[in-house]
Amino acid sequence: MTKAFLGFHLFSFIIIIILPTIIHSQSAPNDAAVMQALKTNLTPKSLDWSDPNPCNWKHIQCSRDNRVTRIQLPNQNLQGTLPQTLNTLTQLQVLELQNNQLTGPLPSLSGLSQLQYLLLGYNLFTSIPSDFFTGMSSLQHVYLDYITFSSWVLPETLKSASNLQVFSATSANINGTIPDFFGRDFFSRLTTLHLDINSLEGGIPDSFFGSSIQSLRLNGQNSRSKLNGTLDVIESMTQLTEVWLHGNMFTGTLPDFSGLNELQTFSVRDNSLIGPVPESLTELQSLKVVNLTNNMFQGPKPSFGKSVEVDISGRNSFCLPDPGVGCDDRVNKLLAVVESVGYPQVFAENWKGNDPCEPWLGIKCSAGGNITVVNLQGMGLTGCISPDFAAIKSLQRLLLADNNLSGMIPDELKDLPILIELDVSNNQLYGRVPEFKQSVTVRTEGNVDIEKDGPSTTPVSPAGGRKGSDGGGGGKPGVVVGSVVGGLVVVASLLAGVHPRHSTSDGDGVKITVAGSSTTGGPSDIHVVEAGNMVISIQVLRNVNNFSQDNILGKGGFGTVYKGELHDGTKIAVKRMESGVMSEKGLDEYCLDGNERLLVYEYMPQGTLSRFLFDSQKEDFKLLEWTKRLIIALDVARGVEYLHGLAQQSFIHRDLKPSNILLGDDMRANKLCTKHK
Ligand SMILES: *[C@@H]1O[C@H](CO)[C@@H](O)[C@H](O)[C@H]1NC(C)=O
Ligand SMILES: *[C@@H]1O[C@H](CO)[C@@H](O)[C@H](O)[C@H]1NC(C)=O
Ligand SMILES: *[C@@H]1O[C@H](CO)[C@@H](O)[C@H](O)[C@H]1NC(C)=O
Ligand SMILES: *[C@@H]1O[C@H](CO)[C@@H](O)[C@H](O)[C@H]1NC(C)=O
Ligand SMILES: *[C@@H]1O[C@H](CO)[C@@H](O)[C@H](O)[C@H]1NC(C)=O
Ligand SMILES: *[C@@H]1O[C@H](CO)[C@@H](O)[C@H](O)[C@H]1NC(C)=O
Repeated sequence: MTKAFLGFHLFSFIIIIILPTIIHSQSAPNDAAVMQALKTNLTPKSLDWSDPNPCNWKHIQCSRDNRVTRIQLPNQNLQGTLPQTLNTLTQLQVLELQNNQLTGPLPSLSGLSQLQYLLLGYNLFTSIPSDFFTGMSSLQHVYLDYITFSSWVLPETLKSASNLQVFSATSANINGTIPDFFGRDFFSRLTTLHLDINSLEGGIPDSFFGSSIQSLRLNGQNSRSKLNGTLDVIESMTQLTEVWLHGNMFTGTLPDFSGLNELQTFSVRDNSLIGPVPESLTELQSLKVVNLTNNMFQGPKPSFGKSVEVDISGRNSFCLPDPGVGCDDRVNKLLAVVESVGYPQVFAENWKGNDPCEPWLGIKCSAGGNITVVNLQGMGLTGCISPDFAAIKSLQRLLLADNNLSGMIPDELKDLPILIELDVSNNQLYGRVPEFKQSVTVRTEGNVDIEKDGPSTTPVSPAGGRKGSDGGGGGKPGVVVGSVVGGLVVVASLLAGVHPRHSTSDGDGVKITVAGSSTTGGPSDIHVVEAGNMVISIQVLRNVNNFSQDNILGKGGFGTVYKGELHDGTKIAVKRMESGVMSEKGLDEYCLDGNERLLVYEYMPQGTLSRFLFDSQKEDFKLLEWTKRLIIALDVARGVEYLHGLAQQSFIHRDLKPSNILLGDDMRANKLCTKHK
């Protein structure tokens, strides 16, 4: 046995030694033929290429076995075309032909697996074949700047160049979108990406999240739509030293720069960026050049350090012309309230100067210059209602109807001293309406989820439920379910105490504790009792659910989860224990009603995070983008923070995993209405 094994190894050893020799001695003459073709095509007058062996030519290098490894002919005033056979120089490592007048179509270089340096810029090539990069797995530096190609798109096959460090194709007539493979997943060593002055469109891909790129130039696209979308992903690209994005159609606010400690040049002039220039940019110590001209920035004109070259003339919507001078208090307050709806462009265009009573769009003032009316009805606003409205003490009427506002009505609004009217009708708001004074007319119709316990959020499955209380002391029999609903954070897990009890009468209920709630009245299926505790009758739960096969959402260790709907449309998920499965431990966490063990959650339509992470192929989902993953991670962190520390009663979540994280239609793990930066 051992002998046979040894013999086999010896045999393969011999083959390994012999094979390369055969290949080399056969293909060296071929290299020579390719080089002769190159010489014929280029007519390099200035070069003495008379030696019959190309390995002796100037600017050419070969390996010891006469394979061509380097062709270095920059700035030689060369004319002509490249031979189609160039890609048979399979040992080629360096090809430098930049700054000549070479023309005709570039031949495919597919299969040049040893090629590391490819410099072809400043030539007159007419086209580049789509398989050009195929199999170039050793590529490190690629320069294709200022070549008069006919339009082409960056091919997927470039992906195999996993050692790529520099890809520079300024003004190379590239169209289509920026491929997502330039991100960290494929190119972990990429430091330079120059795709400026092409005809690219679309956004900076989310896959650039956390990229190693240091120099990013995407400026001056010639396509009709240019590059667009937000600059959010820049925030995660902490290696950046130079960012050129000018002359595009980027929108949204500037990201947070506090992680970009190497950034020296930031040029975003001539875009459609909005919102205030963040302090994280003005305070950046590394900054040397910043170009902000011709956007729609708002708030105070930023003031940069003395050593920073600042280009900030032209169109913008700063309140005052002098850098570093703060805006009128009313301007600050209005900017604060539009932050939570992402500084819509309509205000960036209209709200100019330092006096909102001029008047600005949607703003009405008293004769004395106090803001009395904010009317932003029907402006297509998305996001949430800012609690900062409460700072506009002179506000009498706040009209936000007919938008797409989500989240809850902030409690702070009830403190507005002279408010007469609040109209938030026809939005996507949910949750309880704060208790306004009698004198305030509040209109909330047309919000599907209003005055209900909001569609909750990080539905972490309950683990350390509260200790069962004393067995339903007092009159109300039933089962206590603790739901935690915070002012900002809404966590969906409905945590159960234990009230063992046999009950069949209609009066029996499930008591849902809602932390911090103070609502009166409620939808018919839910009865609010003292301290905001809510009761859903077991009967209702049974009826709405039917526990039928069709309503199954999933099965877990402890039981099956069914979807259901209360009479008012609230979607819920009810977990029902399989009889006999439950251990002592699990028992503590459930509602008990006779033999029935139920756990009530809010219904999260997209199901579990694990589906998107692990079953995406099976279910044919798009892979979750990195930014989405980050957002979900933050949502979950907030939910856990809430459960662990901020909820009226804290719980330890002992089983945090993707299959315990449920997602809403917006792919968020909670409905927390985050402030825009
Ligand atoms: C690129 O430009 C060419 C020629 O104008 C056009 O045919 C092609 O559809 C464009 N491709 C993309 C992805 O825009
Ligand atoms: C960006 O431009 C493309 C057209 O190139 C368009 O389809 C897309 O909707 C735009 N995206 C944004 C966010 O404006
Ligand atoms: C950016 O601003 C600097 C300093 O004013 C200027 O030298 C540079 O040309 C500007 N760049 C662009 C693209 O406008
Ligand atoms: C404006 O509001 C301030 C603060 O609420 C108040 O003191 C002042 O009297 C108001 N002025 C007018 C003209 O209403
Ligand atoms: C607002 O919400 C409605 C209903 O969900 C939707 O049809 C509409 O497209 C949304 N509009 C915007 C601007 O998001
Ligand atoms: C439950 O079953 C009843 C009677 O079979 C039916 O009327 C009702 O629509 C069902 N409800 C749900 C939510 O499926």
